Amino acid sequence: RSRLSSNVSHGGGGKSRRLPSCIIIGVRKCGTRALLEFLSLHPDIVTADEEMHFFNNDDRYRQGLEWYRQRMPPSRSHQITIEKTPGYFISSMAPSRVHRMNSSVKLIVLLRHPTVRTVSDYTQIYFNKLGKNESLDAFEDLVLDRESKAVNLRYKAVQISIYHHYFRRWLDIFPRQQIHVVDGDHLILDPVSEIRSIEDFLGVPHHIDYSILYFNSTRGFYCMRLNATYERCLGASKGRKHPDIDQTVIRKLNRFFVPHNKQLFNMLHVQFPWT
Ligand code: A3P
Repeated sequence: RSRLSSNVSHGGGGKSRRLPSCIIIGVRKCGTRALLEFLSLHPDIVTADEEMHFFNNDDRYRQGLEWYRQRMPPSRSHQITIEKTPGYFISSMAPSRVHRMNSSVKLIVLLRHPTVRTVSDYTQIYFNKLGKNESLDAFEDLVLDRESKAVNLRYKAVQISIYHHYFRRWLDIFPRQQIHVVDGDHLILDPVSEIRSIEDFLGVPHHIDYSILYFNSTRGFYCMRLNATYERCLGASKGRKHPDIDQTVIRKLNRFFVPHNKQLFNMLHVQFPWT
């Protein structure tokens, strides 16, 4: 009997490292870190702090499931282990690899208004480059084709926001009921109600409420109250101010995404408040 066949290794204190039974697969810049951190406050949930990039990285995947399991946090038998790597969503290999690990794994996907996500993605790359003393072209120059002024389909931040392209691959492999879709824009405004549906999806009691999460007006986001004296917000790289963008470009992007959003809503049987 291989050690892996039990999916568990026994450590001290009745805890073991287990493969995740739920994965937050994306989408990048839709609130994946906030959701993971909020869920980690639930007594029946344990979360891997780091993004594993296991199913989307050939070198890591070759290390095998045992390598992956060793990197999961210790948990008790009733607890659910959750990992998040937003890169899984756009990986062509990840759906079948995740399925091979556990065909009944629960998947969570956060989505945001695609134009907002595109701007957020640009903002992240802008700041990453700034940190390395590099510069980045203006958003308007990247997102529109220089010649035709049409939306630039070669720009990665635009591609990722065409959610249905990637969702199709997951739905080819996993039944719809196994994928919970979160409105990332709503998660910012009312995290508890989004988390309630996730608690139901995971089959754990409702625990996260507004005594645990509180609105921090300095940050402009919800933060965590860990105990009577200790509060924690997400790091400065989350909730950055977005650049001011030419409104005609924003309208062009919004129009561009409309048919893609329609396809997505039909595919998922959901409706988001996006134009
Ligand atoms: P912005 O920085 O563009 O505002 P991810 O963790 O997937 O990279 O997503 C980052 C986004 O999470 C942020 O995008 C921010 O809007 C959103 N977010 C949601 N809830 C948040 C919270 N409570 N604190 C900070 N950011 C939050």
